[in-house]
Amino acid sequence: MSAWSARQRHQGSRIALVPTMGFLHDGHLALMKEAGRLADKVAISIFVNPTQFGPGEDFDTYPRNLDRDLDLAREAGVDAAFVPRTEDFYLQGFDTFIDQKKLPNHLCGLSRTGHFRGMMTIVAKLFNVVNPDMAVFGEKDFQQLAIIRRMVADLNFNIRIIGHPIVRESDGLAMSSRNTNLTPEQRKTALCLITALKTAQALMEKKEFHADILIHKAKTIITAHPDTSIDYIAICDPDTLEDIPFVDRPALMALAVTVGTTRLIDNIRLTPAQE
Ligand code: PAF
Repeated sequence: MSAWSARQRHQGSRIALVPTMGFLHDGHLALMKEAGRLADKVAISIFVNPTQFGPGEDFDTYPRNLDRDLDLAREAGVDAAFVPRTEDFYLQGFDTFIDQKKLPNHLCGLSRTGHFRGMMTIVAKLFNVVNPDMAVFGEKDFQQLAIIRRMVADLNFNIRIIGHPIVRESDGLAMSSRNTNLTPEQRKTALCLITALKTAQALMEKKEFHADILIHKAKTIITAHPDTSIDYIAICDPDTLEDIPFVDRPALMALAVTVGTTRLIDNIRLTPAQE
């Protein structure tokens, strides 16, 4: 992979990397398309990274289909796919991790201990191997994107980080590889995530700015479905991810909800109109 990158760079090509854990869907393909628009060559990585899954999480059941992924990537015009084997990428005795103090201490980081530490470590490793000029990430994992931006600035990676808006199914469900784990009934239930976010947004647009009221409304919508369990619903500052009590400035509303046994995340911007 490094040799391929060095050759492209030598020929004056700019490389964009789209890191993925595979089981590609249209959301990933949109990231690849954006990468192709911005760079001369597009590389993707496909690697279900064990260090970002905690005990009892879905590492073993995370959906995988490498042949299909490679076909889809080829069709999307991807120039190179990096598919390391775990034992080659995490050598025996691996013992170095990247961590951050503030941003992981909110939202998903509160229940997924160690998740962002593993995620940052693998992204830094991918950056070192692929040596891209830029990398594209989806905004569904808003916290991940914020943490990567911080890491890149703090550790002097000379890589432009590009966020891509959430890609949704036609009924509004945010695309995720994990959606395939939903039964048809749970797939219907999963719509309560975007319904809750949109309802809160509409309420805010009608000038209800109290975060606790907006969160309570969202909670009511989700808990009306018996097959759900809320991890968090938060309204926070998009830069610091700290909770804000009153939406008097642009905010992010983010949630994580388990539907059946599948943990889903989503978010929406709350932008109060200027008076
Ligand atoms: O967003 C993902 O799919 C993963 O967290 C990433 C960035 C590929 C790192 O494993």
